[in-house]
Amino acid sequence: VIIDGKKIANDIQAEIRNTILLFSGRKPCLAVILVGNHLASEIYVKRKTQACESVGILVIIKRMPSTIQINDLLAEITALNEDPSVDGILVQLPLPAHINPMPIIHAIQPDKDIDGFHPLNVGKMLIGETGGFIPCTPLGIQFLLSRSSIEMTGKHVVILGRSNIVGKPLAALLMQNTPDGNATVTVAHRHSTNLKELCLLADILIVAIGQPKFITANMVRDGAIIIDVGINKIDNPTQIQGYQIVGDVDFINVEPKCSYITPVPGGVGPMTIAMLLRNTLISYQNRLQLNKT
Ligand code: GUN
Repeated sequence: VIIDGKKIANDIQAEIRNTILLFSGRKPCLAVILVGNHLASEIYVKRKTQACESVGILVIIKRMPSTIQINDLLAEITALNEDPSVDGILVQLPLPAHINPMPIIHAIQPDKDIDGFHPLNVGKMLIGETGGFIPCTPLGIQFLLSRSSIEMTGKHVVILGRSNIVGKPLAALLMQNTPDGNATVTVAHRHSTNLKELCLLADILIVAIGQPKFITANMVRDGAIIIDVGINKIDNPTQIQGYQIVGDVDFINVEPKCSYITPVPGGVGPMTIAMLLRNTLISYQNRLQLNKT
């Protein structure tokens, strides 16, 4: 089965759109800070903006030059923290090399941190406390699996990659004592030995390392489930644009061996965006209940 992330994401977006229609008064609002002109970030922010607007979430984009100083960026975050009409604050990563992302992530008010990157939200997820925000890509992968009726309890999930955005939070999420968790999780990374043998042990192999077609057919057990988080641009002169987007998995050769696989594009990517909308809606609902607006 090729898991249709685009369709599942569209279904979730429709649910979010219908929920937002139930509210009168101010609309949910996401503020996006985009520093510099990193090409991939420009594309991601455009997609996020289009998706927000299609469900009725307002978007404020704050563009800043790559030469910005950290204090100016922190001042912008403080203003958004204090703005009662803003429900979510997203600082698109990566930031320019001279800006350490850690103090930036710390500066975002945890109840507006719809990316789920603030240490308070990361900690809540790790200890299994509800009410925090869960990072969009891990949450999107959990939704993809559950909406595809894939049972997780007792499965061996092997995650390749240990980033703060995907690998680490995903491991925490899938090992939790929850109906969509309860998996046995192995996290592998660039220093792991016997990578191929580890991959062959996976019931579910989730790959987030940013290397085109890294996972080949000989690394995959017959009947495994493959989730490909990679988004890589490779030259392809046969395409009109001269390039092609591929995942971290050699899809053509791996697909015949597995029971389920996500394509790139059209797999995890649209789910990440759907979860951003979901987190923003949750923040809006929380804020209305707290009567902050
Ligand atoms: N860069 C790549 N993925 C993400 C994400 O989920 N959130 C933010 N803010 N930046 C990213």
